Amino acid sequence: MINLKLKTIASLINKSDHVIDVACDHAYLAIYLKKNKLCQSVIASDISAQALNGAEKNIKEANLDIPTFLSDGFTNIPDKSLDTAIIAGVGTYTILDIVKSAPNNIKKFIISSNNNYAYLREKMANLGFYCDKEIVIKEHNKFYPIMVFIKSNKKDNKFKLKYGKSNNPEYFNYLIQKEKDIINKLDKISISKIKHYMEIHNLKKCLKGKKQDY
Ligand SMILES: C[S@@+](CC[C@H](N)C(=O)[O-])C[C@H]1O[C@@H](n2cnc3c(N)ncnc32)[C@H](O)[C@@H]1O
Repeated sequence: MINLKLKTIASLINKSDHVIDVACDHAYLAIYLKKNKLCQSVIASDISAQALNGAEKNIKEANLDIPTFLSDGFTNIPDKSLDTAIIAGVGTYTILDIVKSAPNNIKKFIISSNNNYAYLREKMANLGFYCDKEIVIKEHNKFYPIMVFIKSNKKDNKFKLKYGKSNNPEYFNYLIQKEKDIINKLDKISISKIKHYMEIHNLKKCLKGKKQDY
């Protein structure tokens, strides 16, 4: 049941970690972590009652004991012994809201956003989190950057904030192609802009000798 993205996230968890999987949905990742004894403890939460019901059913079927919480981010999480939070499969704005509501004891975030990676890296840096590691995987023809943020004053340069620090050459070739596409589009826009400036210039020339005839 566990996909490559969730397996990769699991590979970034240490045995000593006390983990919360925020936005757990089916709780596949929490179940995988618990079953394989990959961390010290794990709890799972989700904002959706329907998702959490499914998670609880899966946990029961796996015969495991994983506490679950119906919670928007950390708002309803009582456990203070946590030190690691996984937030995956939601957008950057939601992730940043969740991170801002996290208690101080969370020292490590493992994040896989659906969008706006550069913005996410920059805002996490502003919140005092340094991207210690980034792995980019490709699944169903889509790239998924998975980032490990730790509490630190260390700062990455602008280039790393924009493009990340994975060592996946396929991903970087994809980014280069994206930049080339933008340049091609910009060229077209510039040519069309010049055309319009010429039109205005011609119109103004036409206008000069014209007398109002009404
Ligand atoms: C696509 S699933 C992601 C499941 C899993 N984490 C993954 O990456 O495969 C997104 C889940 O995020 C939950 N979610 C969205 N906003 C949330 C929030 N503010 N707090 C907690 N869960 C949230 C949704 O209810 C949904 O179950």
